[in-house]
Amino acid sequence: MSCAVLGIDLPIIQAPMAGTATPALAAAVSNAGGLGSISIAAVQAEAGRQMIRETRAGTRKPFNINVFCHRPSVADPAGEQAWLTHLQPYFAEFGVPAPDSIRDIYCSFQNDEGQLEVLLEERPPIVSFHLGLPSQARIDALKKAGIILLASATTLEEGLLAQEAGIDIIVAQGIEAGGHRGVFDPQRGDQGIGTLALVRVLVKHLSRPVIAAGGIMDGAGIAAAMSLGACAAQLGTAFILCPESAANDTYRRMLSSQRAQVTQVTTVISGRPARGIVNRFMAEVGAPGHPEVPGFGIAYDAGKQLIAAAAKAGNAEFAAHWAGQGAALARAMPAAELLDLLWREYLEARA
Ligand SMILES: Cc1cc2nc3c(=O)[nH]c(=O)nc-3n(C[C@H](O)[C@H](O)[C@H](O)COP(=O)(O)O)c2cc1C
Repeated sequence: MSCAVLGIDLPIIQAPMAGTATPALAAAVSNAGGLGSISIAAVQAEAGRQMIRETRAGTRKPFNINVFCHRPSVADPAGEQAWLTHLQPYFAEFGVPAPDSIRDIYCSFQNDEGQLEVLLEERPPIVSFHLGLPSQARIDALKKAGIILLASATTLEEGLLAQEAGIDIIVAQGIEAGGHRGVFDPQRGDQGIGTLALVRVLVKHLSRPVIAAGGIMDGAGIAAAMSLGACAAQLGTAFILCPESAANDTYRRMLSSQRAQVTQVTTVISGRPARGIVNRFMAEVGAPGHPEVPGFGIAYDAGKQLIAAAAKAGNAEFAAHWAGQGAALARAMPAAELLDLLWREYLEARA
């Protein structure tokens, strides 16, 4: 099934990456014929509006705006204190006290009124949902505004829910993927289905087109995903080393080193499962026996403060270096050049 509804020339989507994908990156990808994406999940609604406007100013082609749709976390002061006590020695290592309290620092499009208003007013051509779905009323409102909708799914059950809700194209996110797992309800567990199996299952069981995501790093990977019936491939990790991304030098160095060969899914950094390059944060804070991790956004409040303290002390081991299983294949070049290369490799693989 085709994804012509996206209005792009090449079946290549640069994944939304909160904190890493910039308006400049998204615009460069869209201008080169792919679909550029940014996430406004980690910023307040008005800052999101500015990011949408910046992206629009950079391209006349379609682009995608991503929001998170997780169930908003519920505060649990006792649990949060236990978590802060667990993190205290690491803060001490960097000479700063652990915070007294932490709070949810992420917006969820399930209940954020500002994000809804901004999306309806700015009307980006495409909006994508990650970590769940918003209410039917919100989906209907965006569709009525003429916005094409995408949603991540990690299982057939999630894909069916998205399809029934009227999502136009389903993003099959395999366990190989870098960044946060799109699982709707992590409390129910994570099947960890790989991209190959998930794409095929969704293509066979859904009536909507499917985009493949997870571990795709080059044209051969895109061709493989499309052989399975995907209408396009969504690549995140492959774009982190582009000069247009917001990745800092440490992240770039880590992704370009042998360390990129070892990635793992962890919940201890943000409070939700996410895949990144293994470091001390994952290995030590996440060692068996740790206290229960606070909810998404709340744990990330502490995580980001620890990351900032470590960075200030010149320590690269406490960081959220999100990356997929194909990380060792990441290449550094401008986004337009990468798009061109991916397309040439794709044609070669197909020939
Ligand atoms: C650094 C990073 C940040 C990410 N942030 C988001 C995000 O904000 N929203 C989203 O829908 N997906 C996000 N993802 C997941 C991607 O949409 C996609 O599923 C994933 O990048 C595909 O796997 P790959 O990294 O192996 O290409 C992120 C991925 C990475 C690597």
